[in-house]
Parts: sequence; C-alpha cells; structure tokens
Amino acid sequence: MQVTKLGYGANSVGGHNLFSNVNDDTGKEVVKAALDNGIDFLDTAFIYGLGRSEELIGEVLKERGNRDKIVLASKAAHKLVNGEVVKDNSREFLRDSVEKSLKRLQTDFIDLFYVHYPDGKTPLAEVAGTLKELKDEGKIGAVGASNLSENQLQQFNQDGYLDVYQGEYSLLKREAEHFYLPYTVEHNISFVPYFPLASGLLTGKFTKEATFTDIRKKDPLFQGEAFLRNIEKVNQLKALAEEKDAEATHLALAWLLAQPGVDVIIPGAKSVGQLKNNLQTLDIQLTIDEVEKINHIFS
Ligand SMILES: NC(=O)c1ccc[n+]([C@@H]2O[C@H](COP(=O)([O-])OP(=O)(O)OC[C@H]3O[C@@H](n4cnc5c(N)ncnc54)[C@H](OP(=O)(O)O)[C@@H]3O)[C@@H](O)[C@H]2O)c1
Repeated sequence: MQVTKLGYGANSVGGHNLFSNVNDDTGKEVVKAALDNGIDFLDTAFIYGLGRSEELIGEVLKERGNRDKIVLASKAAHKLVNGEVVKDNSREFLRDSVEKSLKRLQTDFIDLFYVHYPDGKTPLAEVAGTLKELKDEGKIGAVGASNLSENQLQQFNQDGYLDVYQGEYSLLKREAEHFYLPYTVEHNISFVPYFPLASGLLTGKFTKEATFTDIRKKDPLFQGEAFLRNIEKVNQLKALAEEKDAEATHLALAWLLAQPGVDVIIPGAKSVGQLKNNLQTLDIQLTIDEVEKINHIFS
C-alpha cells in the first residue's frame, strides 16, 4: 500500500458526537480540498459521527468518481445499545460492521480496516483472525488495530496478521517510542500516529489563558500546570519555526515524519484553511540538528 506522506484524519467530518463546531457541508469541503491537493489517504471510523463521516466521504468519492485513486481506512468496535456506546470485537459484529461501512462509503473494498478498541472480552488473536478472513475474502486490503496495550498488541499479532497499528504519538505524547515503534519496525508493521498535533495544541495557536469546552476539556495535556508547561514548550517550537519561515504546526508534523517507523501522518483539520496549512509541512526539511533541538525542547 503506497500513500502520500500526509493523509487526512476525518474525525471532524460529520463528527457531531465528538465536536460541537462541525457541520456536514464544511466536512465535505475539507475532504474535497484534501483530494484536490493530492491527499490520497483518508482515515475514518464508525464512531466519527456514528457512520456520518463514512457517509460524507462516500458521497465525495462518488461525486469525484475517483475511488480507485484513494486509500480508504476505517475502523469499528463501537455500537449503540439503548443509546449507549459499547464495544464489540466479535466476529459477527466486525463482519457486519465491514458490510455497513462498505455501504456508507459506497464502495466494495476498504483498503485498511482497524479494530478501533479492544472490547475486553473477545480474544485478540481471534479478532485478528476475523480481519484476516475479511482480507482473504477481498473485502478489506489490510488488517489494522488501534488502542491496544503492549500485551494486547502481542496477542493480536501472534499469527503475524497485523499490517498497520494506529496509536497516539506526538511531540507531547512520546510513550509510543518505548514499545510500539520498536515493535512495529521489528515486525514490519506500519505505525500511524494519531493526535499528531495533540488536538491542536502543537499548532501554537493557544495562549495560557485558553479554555476548552470540547473533548480537550478532559485531555490531561490541556489541564492545569501541564497545560502551562506545554504552552511554554510550544512557544519555543514557534520561535524555532520562525527561523525557518514556518509555523509550529509544520515543525511538529515534520518531526513526526522524521521518526523511524512513521511513514504517514493523518492530521485532522476542521476547515480548508487548516488542511492547506498542514500541507505546507511537506515543504519542510528538518536537519538532524533541528530534530535534536526539537527533541531538546520537548525532553
Ligand atoms: N485510533 C484512534 O483511537 C484515534 C483517536 C483520535 C484520532 N484518530 C485519528 O487521527 C486523526 C487526527 O487526530 P485529530 O484530528 O483528533 O487531532 P490532531 O490531528 O492532533 O489535531 C487536529 C485539530 O487541530 C486543529 N488544527 C488542525 N490543523 C490546524 C492548523 N493548521 N491550524 C490551527 N489549528 C489546526 C483543529 O481543531 P480546532 O480547530 O478545533 O482547534 C483540528 O481538528 C483523526 O482525525 C482520526 O482520523 C484516531
């Protein structure tokens, strides 16, 4: 599977259950702009708008007629039971989820399908077996998993079925470096970092006085003293970026792309302007010295 280095993470496309400041039209405009600007890798999931993100992406791809040029990734694990979201990794549920995703995306093939979260009961080798079965049947192109503990990842991959692992990784969340990145490199598994901009914190647009009403309100990176320290680090990143005529966003994303084992990033964007801004990352070349300076700021 070959994709451009910078894909698009579409959790805000139709993601009304995650964010309050999104609407369908803007979501579709951002997806269209992504395609118009050469992005060929779209990351979605059922839980992004309870299927709405997939539907909107499906509509855009149908309008454009270029499904075969795009690498589509989606995920499942969540379902609504009596209005509550619960997780399910059973064979029956995952097979049904893929069928429903195919319909919403208006396609007959999903390039990469992840189990989004473990359900805490289905044995993970069995979950991997279900996705491998779907791959062998040609419904999906690659087996993915996300949000697994170290042990769970090893269990999932006991038969070597895992193609892509998606985990949180950014300048402000480095835990992936201790196990996930070495493991995926060793086992020839692609690692896709999520929250690459730490939900916007690494763009440098927030001041110490900023307050949050959305999912960031509960994110430890945005709390109290930690938030103030993070802002100070990001301000140093901004200063370094200015020396290169760039912005903190571009250095944060270019730094990720410079990490061994990271081949592609999927920053989110809630507007066409943000998307185009993020794409400027591809014009940035970091020297070894600059990577070291960035590491030092965030050490
Ligand atoms: N596997 C998983 O469990 C999991 C979990 C989370 C995310 N993901 C995937 O990873 C993707 C990326 O995560 P994310 O989108 O939540 O977080 P992110 O990429 O770290 O941050 C994206 C957010 O930052 C702000 N932003 C982005 N570009 C900007 C720019 N140039 N200037 C100013 N602000 C900008 C926007 O929010 P505001 O405008 O509101 O500040 C945007 O929604 C998701 O879309 C999803 O596909 C997967």
